[in-house]
Amino acid sequence: MEKYSNRIIITHWLTLALLVAAWFLGDSLDDARHEGGATITGYMVHSLVGGAVLLLTLTRIAFRRTDGAPPPMGDTLLDKVAKGVHHLLYVLLIVLPLSGIMQVLTSKVGKALMAGDASLLPKKFEGVAAHDVHEILVNVLIAVAVVHVLGALKHQFVTKDNIMARMSLRNKK
Ligand code: HEM
Ligand code: HEM
Repeated sequence: MEKYSNRIIITHWLTLALLVAAWFLGDSLDDARHEGGATITGYMVHSLVGGAVLLLTLTRIAFRRTDGAPPPMGDTLLDKVAKGVHHLLYVLLIVLPLSGIMQVLTSKVGKALMAGDASLLPKKFEGVAAHDVHEILVNVLIAVAVVHVLGALKHQFVTKDNIMARMSLRNKK
């Protein structure tokens, strides 16, 4: 079976790990702010992990252009939907971190980070559109990723075409 290149496979699974971490850190940050305990370190770590998702995605797209990808599993409507879902995931993996960066730049978070002073951190994000956009995009990404995972599970366990081998480093045929 034709597979993705090793470096594309590694970046696919590393992105998943970073996304889970960024999601957890972002949610903890939101909770900490509501409890009055948000820290500069908390915002820095979330921003760095989220920023790493953006850099990794741009790197992965460059890898894909050089290495190519295996041909689609088939030519049905569902195969075309799967391709659309992949494209949408790439767009979200870029736009979501960008909305996070915009949120920092257009709120008091940016000034607080520059000054290294947690007392300048905002209590609320009133009027900061990027904050609402970021939250909405997180939920859209989760929903689209769930559809993607369900598709992979359907291939693996219902169609039984061993799709996971295409995204696995193991050399099993
Ligand atoms: C793919 C990457 C990212 C994911 C999955 C992610 C996820 C999240 C989540 C789940 C929240 C909490 C939303 C809420 O409940 O209100 C959040 C908040 C936030 N994120 Fe991100 N984020 C990402 C990237 C970034 C980046 C790159 C930055 C900035 C450079 C950033 C800055 C923020 C800020 C400032 C908040 C507000 C925290 C608060 O409520 O006080 N995020 N993010
Ligand atoms: C447990 C979770 C996941 C599983 C089991 C999984 C599985 C797979 C598999 C088997 C493929 C290859 C599809 C094919 O050859 O047609 C694939 C591709 C892909 N996955 Fe995932 N995935 C998971 C999570 C994610 C997440 C969280 C994202 C991004 C948010 C993601 C983004 C992508 C993208 C963009 C492709 C297309 C690769 C390309 O053609 O460039 N995956 N995934």
